[in-house]
Amino acid sequence: HRHVDFATPERIDQVIAGGDLHPVIPDYESFEDYQAGGGYARLAELRDAGDWQQVQQTLLDAGLRGMGGAGFPSGKKWGFVRANPGPRYLAVNGDEGEPGTFKDRYYLERQPHLMLEGMLIAAWAVEAEKCFIYMRDEYPAVLKILRREIAALEEAGIAAPGYIDLRRGAGAYICGEESAMIESIEGKRGLPRLRPPYVAQDGVFGKPTLVHNVETLHLITRICREGPEIFSSVEHNGRKGMRSYSLSGRVANPGVYFLPAGTTIRELIEAAGGMAEGHEFKAYQPGGPSSGLLPASLDDVPLDFDTLQPHGTFIGSAAVVVLSDKDSAKAAALNMLRFFESESCGQCTPCRVGCEKAVKLMQADQWDQPLLNDLCDVMTDASICGLGQAAPNPIRLVMEHFADEVGCSRKDGGKA
Ligand code: NAI
Ligand code: SF4
Repeated sequence: HRHVDFATPERIDQVIAGGDLHPVIPDYESFEDYQAGGGYARLAELRDAGDWQQVQQTLLDAGLRGMGGAGFPSGKKWGFVRANPGPRYLAVNGDEGEPGTFKDRYYLERQPHLMLEGMLIAAWAVEAEKCFIYMRDEYPAVLKILRREIAALEEAGIAAPGYIDLRRGAGAYICGEESAMIESIEGKRGLPRLRPPYVAQDGVFGKPTLVHNVETLHLITRICREGPEIFSSVEHNGRKGMRSYSLSGRVANPGVYFLPAGTTIRELIEAAGGMAEGHEFKAYQPGGPSSGLLPASLDDVPLDFDTLQPHGTFIGSAAVVVLSDKDSAKAAALNMLRFFESESCGQCTPCRVGCEKAVKLMQADQWDQPLLNDLCDVMTDASICGLGQAAPNPIRLVMEHFADEVGCSRKDGGKA
């Protein structure tokens, strides 16, 4: 495993002192270094005489799924986009907004060309007319690196001038939702669209668009260069493949851990050198606030796509935050709902009013469980996008697992 070594207190002070205008650029693998190590050779081979369906099969054989969080099979997406008539576009979702997720930044600050080569391979596969990179503006160092490295690609003739269009994110969490991101790319306010139609059919400027997360593209390059076995040969706790966990909270060494998919929270904490001193493991957020909180007693569940479904949640982008006996599950859930209240785009009533109402109800010493349950149901059933649909998860899971903290007498949160 590897862990983040850039978030040192000195580095943070430097960034704060410098502000966004002077981001500290970490040492990263430049175009020259990447190419010297064989980078872009695979792309050249594919462009010369490659068969896109063969590469698609390689991704399917590897079992690669979308690492933005939804886990949609990446190869399958290529097929959906190719099935629609051109012009087609590619959009990289670099708006890593899920609190607790920092894997995309980690990779881009070290090996930006793994993402860029993956993007050009995917663009070749779907015959994209143009690539948009929607990059979180709160990552100024990454923006600077990408500007520099895209210029190097143009200079080397690997990408035509203007073929890669780097866009600065608009600073809203909702702009990471793919259709809101597309609206934002088009110059509009980032409001999610109703689906279907999916972006594979009706994306940027109404054209078929392949949307991939940064880590997915990074892994596409690795799989194309090193073979599908780097994924498919890894088996752990009955799960196949690898994934990047962004681990933070009360652990000794927070960071990004690239481990077998199926790693449990116990194993993850162990990989991070155990709990931080003086802290006892109490709960964890498995995949961002929309995944809510699970208790320490569920410490043997493989943390992968689909495995958390029986527990009423999901792994998403694997933004794992560990809570200890010093933390309140109730306060954490309230904090999560405050985040959703603030980030809701306001387009639909169940989410806009629901988040606000939930925050008010959750401030009571004792939660009104039947009312909260009704509110959660309406939000999940009637919200347009994932934000409003998943926002109730922290409420439901805290009522189920931390009943004593919210004055809940019944484990089912008063629902039955
Ligand atoms: P989704 O399952 O609706 O879609 C996933 C992808 O598959 C999309 O690109 C969608 O267009 C495509 N797709 C799904 N069904 C399709 C079909 N029938 N035809 C063509 N394409 C199809 O999930 P969604 O709403 O895009 O993402 C939700 C996830 O995002 C959650 O798991 C959440 O954890 C994660 N997330 C990640 C964040 C981050 O910072 N990385 C921030 C917030 C949420
Ligand atoms: Fe906007 Fe929330 Fe509705 Fe999504 S669910 S469209 S964020 S108001």
